[in-house]
Amino acid sequence: MLQDSFGRVATDLRVSLTDRCNLRCSYCMPPEGLDWLPKAGLLTADEIVRLVTIGVERLGITEVRYTGGEPLLRRELLDIVTRTAALDPTPQVSLTTNGIGLARLAAPLAAAGLHRVNVSLDTLDRETFKRLAHRDRLADVLDGLAAAEAAGLRPVKVNTVLMRSVNDHEAVPLLRHCLERGYELRFIEQMPLDAQHGWRRDDMITADEILALLKESFDLVPDSPVERGSAPAELFVVDGGPARVGVIGSVTRPFCGACDRVRLTADGQIRNCLFATEESDLRAAMRSGAGDDELAERWTAAVRGKRAGHGIDDPAFLQPSRPMSAIGG
Ligand code: GTP
Ligand code: 5AD
Ligand code: SF4
Repeated sequence: MLQDSFGRVATDLRVSLTDRCNLRCSYCMPPEGLDWLPKAGLLTADEIVRLVTIGVERLGITEVRYTGGEPLLRRELLDIVTRTAALDPTPQVSLTTNGIGLARLAAPLAAAGLHRVNVSLDTLDRETFKRLAHRDRLADVLDGLAAAEAAGLRPVKVNTVLMRSVNDHEAVPLLRHCLERGYELRFIEQMPLDAQHGWRRDDMITADEILALLKESFDLVPDSPVERGSAPAELFVVDGGPARVGVIGSVTRPFCGACDRVRLTADGQIRNCLFATEESDLRAAMRSGAGDDELAERWTAAVRGKRAGHGIDDPAFLQPSRPMSAIGG
């Protein structure tokens, strides 16, 4: 069991498959991209599956989410998902993606054993998409979403980061779009995880603001808190249900007290928190011949040292040196 000193147990493993991405969302990366990890530094598919297997078979991991960067860019994704879904006990296997390429991959991924997918969608307007993500790919994302729904990767969840004067006027149309198609939309507070270190608290659209915006057009009733568990999203039943909308208030409504996450970066580092200041190098251990027992011990020790929370409100808060794309979203 992966337990920290506050008694929280990590059961949800988030694995970044690559730090590369085919978009350049402004809250994440500069338009020119970043210095990508060298190929030899990335875990191989076999190394990833080995660590995931240790997590599932020995350490109590019950959910595995593949992220990036953009996980659909990883050539071996289908193989990795197939081998993950074949583990005993079978974990929940999910993917967080920008949706580009999902039109082609949704059905094969479902056949490989993927259960669910979360797709980022910040705007329905082509020009805004180009301005925000620096690529003209909105149509690909919308096609990807439709393919995920058709392939039964349900519930399809949509992640929207609202930004002032960029896409905040689209909160209502985005929710309408998702309600019509049966996607579960979650609005996300922007966190200080951009490579450019441009995040300013005062610019952030807060959970309270998001709810006020939505309440002008929809009737929202808080969903049962019992069901929330450790999920980041606070859910609200929309217009009498059954549809729901989520608000992920990582900054103003932190959920660290119930956190059940641990992360594996694309270069094989265990991070016990998005905002961790230390990492544990399982790649080096693996490549110098460590056995499964030793890897499990190192991993357990890395989780034990997890801090109480992200500390964004602490005056001494320092943004992690790695951006979200390198940590895993
Ligand atoms: P499910 O609800 O299980 O589908 O997943 P999820 O919402 O945890 O996953 P997803 O990858 O879609 O993440 C959505 C958003 O949650 C991210 O954009 C982050 O803003 C936030 N988030 C994800 N993981 C963490 C975390 O470990 N800490 C914090 N503070 N926020 C997180
Ligand atoms: N703050 C909040 N969410 C972010 N994401 C990427 N960068 C940030 C940030 N700085 C979101 C993406 C994606 C999810 C994995 O994380 O929109 O949906
Ligand atoms: Fe968990 Fe850290 Fe995210 Fe808080 S910020 S929810 S402790 S990973």
